[in-house]
Amino acid sequence: MLRTHTCGALNISDLGKEVIISGWVQKSRDLGGMTFIDVRDRYGITQIVFNMEENDTLCKLARTLGREYVVQVAGTVIERSSKNLKIPTGEIEIKVSAIEVLNESKVPPFMIEDETDGGEELRAKYRYLDLRRNVVRKNLELRHRMAQETRKYMDSLNFIEVETPVLIKSTPEGARDFVVPSRMNNGEFYALPQSPQTFKQLLMVSGFDRYFQIVKCFRDEDLRADRQPEFTQIDCEMAFVTQEDILNTFEGLAKHLFKAVKGIDIHEFPRMTYADAMRLYGSDKPDIRFDMKFVELNDVVKGKDFKVFDDAELVVGVCAKGCAEYTRKQLDELIDFVKRPQIGATGLVYARVQADGTLKSSVDKFYDEAALNLWKEKFAAEPGDLILILAGKADKTRKALSELRLEMGSRLGLRAKNVFAPLWVLDFPLLEWDEENNRYHAMHHPFTSPKPEDISMLKTNAGDVRANAYDMVINGTEIGGGSIRIFNKELQSTMFDLLGFSKEEAQKQFGFLMDAFEFGAPPHGGIAFGFDRWCSLFAELDSIRDVIAFPKNNSGRDVMIDSPSTISNEQLKELGIKTL
Ligand code: AMO
Repeated sequence: MLRTHTCGALNISDLGKEVIISGWVQKSRDLGGMTFIDVRDRYGITQIVFNMEENDTLCKLARTLGREYVVQVAGTVIERSSKNLKIPTGEIEIKVSAIEVLNESKVPPFMIEDETDGGEELRAKYRYLDLRRNVVRKNLELRHRMAQETRKYMDSLNFIEVETPVLIKSTPEGARDFVVPSRMNNGEFYALPQSPQTFKQLLMVSGFDRYFQIVKCFRDEDLRADRQPEFTQIDCEMAFVTQEDILNTFEGLAKHLFKAVKGIDIHEFPRMTYADAMRLYGSDKPDIRFDMKFVELNDVVKGKDFKVFDDAELVVGVCAKGCAEYTRKQLDELIDFVKRPQIGATGLVYARVQADGTLKSSVDKFYDEAALNLWKEKFAAEPGDLILILAGKADKTRKALSELRLEMGSRLGLRAKNVFAPLWVLDFPLLEWDEENNRYHAMHHPFTSPKPEDISMLKTNAGDVRANAYDMVINGTEIGGGSIRIFNKELQSTMFDLLGFSKEEAQKQFGFLMDAFEFGAPPHGGIAFGFDRWCSLFAELDSIRDVIAFPKNNSGRDVMIDSPSTISNEQLKELGIKTL
């Protein structure tokens, strides 16, 4: 036996036991006659002790052990003289009777400690060492728990986990595909699934009724903190359901995960239409941990000769509670923030509500006290508040104010990572207009059903048609999205027409699905959750990379295995690809 106990198992109740532990040398301290070594494994750290007077040879050997050596230690559990009550094993140590070096280690390139000296690049290159660190391992343990609890919940509701293929043809989720050349069919390519969308719908036609899968998806898109080229979804589909059934079922999943993984009871799960989300927060994924709703001002600011407001399609602002005392420097920071190219506002108008209730604005020249009082009323602003206003094209201005609102939320400490505010956003538009190509795109995907009451508008004002589509948002992050599907062949082909597919194109790309719909497709709908995003949210982290064992960097590279990489000319030839 290489161990009788793990390094996290022993405590004061084990005094006197003869034990064997195995693990990595975390650190050693040589105090003259005594040598102490911390031995670490996945479960914890146990201190082992060598006494020069009692065993000179062992003690000498102990002094040769470098960091990250793998050792097997036999000895007796004794009580420590100086205890560390912060760790479960901190009251005991092992008095060593025998030690064996199972493997040596080079000096690791960074400290394997919670607070490490290793930079991001270095840790990515040696990810297997980074994964030895507690803080990193804990994230994967949380991910494991999330997966297990998801399966438990889904299984309890009769969902069946079915694996769908990875070598498929393009799925219509809107990003670019990763493709795989086929050796046996030269010149032809598989695509890796952006999601199992079409397969899960086919499973409904097959009568599976309730499907789920924790599944890898692949999207060749620009990377950000919450995007990886390969990521994991909790993918789900149900037959014979309405939107309401789906919302309730997956609200249940969210509540289960919150309770089982975080110990949190979720009492409120509000719902908001897309239209309200855009109007009140300028975002389809509002962070509702804090209020600070948008207030539109067109009716009280126009016609006072202030050109910026007079020319604007929309004048809209937020009220930051208790920020009237902001210094010139702080206000300049906010102005710089909104002027950053990513935000794109041309300027920021502000007004402080002073202690006596009067308003002092950056545009006093144009607005007298009576006019400013109207602003105050609109915002229900109180002494001590700071009103921040942007103006311009409606969409762009809402987006910019949404960023400013989040920035203010952060500055005011209203976005604590351990506070959770889930939300359903409903009634997304079915289509979005693509200015560049002068055509509609499906906002979710082409199988999403319009709201029955809006179907008549498909031929007249398609842009206004709402979909039976929904997103689950937690703390301003889109955790999941889904829809009720079209299951009627005629409606599906109207949809393809609207999206600019010719009959032949639609048949070539999705003929298999439309054919299947002719064999008794049940009404169905579903949702997919970004599993990595959900895990990183629960782990209270900023990036999904930290909950992925072997993630890619921002350029889509795995710097540890050095991928992607070139392949040999022979391989290229075999695949029927012209050599470079
Ligand atoms: P959607 O495209 O909205 O829907 O994806 C579902 C969820 O997956 C997560 N996600 C990502 N996570 C990490 N990296 C990425 N590159 C990435 N892209 C998406 C998001 C998102 O909400 N088939 C439909 C679902 C359905 O209609 O049932 C789909 O894939 O959290």
